[in-house]
Amino acid sequence: MKEVVKEMTKRTEQAFVNPGARFGLLYIYVLIVGVIIGLYYVSNLENISRQSVPPVLPDTTVTVTELTVKKAVSVPPVILSEISKPSPNLVSEGEKIYKTNCASCHGDKGAGDGPAATGLNPPPRDFLSKENWVNGTKLSGIYKTLEEGLLPSAMIAYDFLLPEQKFAVAHYIRQTFIPDAEADTEDDLIALDATYNLSAGVQLAAQIPVSSASAIIENESKTKVENIIKLKEKISSLSSEAGYSAFNEVVKNENTALTFLTINNEWKKSEDSFINLLVNNVNQNGFNGSIYNLSSNEWNVLFNFMNKLI
Ligand code: HEC
Repeated sequence: MKEVVKEMTKRTEQAFVNPGARFGLLYIYVLIVGVIIGLYYVSNLENISRQSVPPVLPDTTVTVTELTVKKAVSVPPVILSEISKPSPNLVSEGEKIYKTNCASCHGDKGAGDGPAATGLNPPPRDFLSKENWVNGTKLSGIYKTLEEGLLPSAMIAYDFLLPEQKFAVAHYIRQTFIPDAEADTEDDLIALDATYNLSAGVQLAAQIPVSSASAIIENESKTKVENIIKLKEKISSLSSEAGYSAFNEVVKNENTALTFLTINNEWKKSEDSFINLLVNNVNQNGFNGSIYNLSSNEWNVLFNFMNKLI
């Protein structure tokens, strides 16, 4: 037994002395580590492959549609009982509108054969034909066609025409081209009025893209900040004035105080309104509580100083 132990110790010693034997041990060690890594890799294969594919998020989740520029629109109300009658005035106004906006497709004689009609599919409506009208020949039907268009055909919406102009051109084509144009019932006209707010008129506010709006706001706040910086420079240049130390004593946040006083110019009118303004808004307006301890003389000094500054 003793001999076996001796022999083993000797061999191990030899292994450390003999470089070849050392490599032998290293080989076994590397093999074991390699097998462990291999097993780990195989058992986690699913995870590893899953993580190596970068997740692809569809772009469609966030669609940012920028607003377009729109002028403010004021659509005057119309009196339906009057405008639904083809007065000579309306018809002659309608003729002008037809010639500039419609004749290129629908033709001078309304037969759908204007110069711009070539190749259009469907072709522009021949007003003389009674077949296959989509919205019909009633005043209300034509109004709807003009307001909404007949997309995807070349008949776009003529919603930029004022209500009166739409009625005018509808009267013109009904009188001039359409044989036996259908008359509107009372209900048709009431429904038309309700759908397009005709007797109420429409007021639409102007609209600009959000990006332009933020650029404007950014610019505005930039000039405000620059203004405050200038005021602060001016304050340091007035350090020899009596009001300088008074101001520093009652001010809690110089930026807030200066912004507050520049936005609100009312206080410049009188010392009383100045005192009122500061006393009623302490803490929000950047001043501190010691403002309550000012004597009337100190108020006067402070008021004159602020008046000189802003
Ligand atoms: C660019 C060519 C073009 C211009 C300009 C044009 N239209 Fe049209 N219009 C069409 C076409 C095409 C159709 C047929 C659409 C369909 O049947 O789907 C049509 C159809 C119509 C109809 C029939 C609606 C129905 O119920 O079937 C009316 C009414 C009409 N247009 C009026 C006008 C008036 C009024 C103007 C001018 C303010 C005008 N169009 C300008 C191409 C034009």
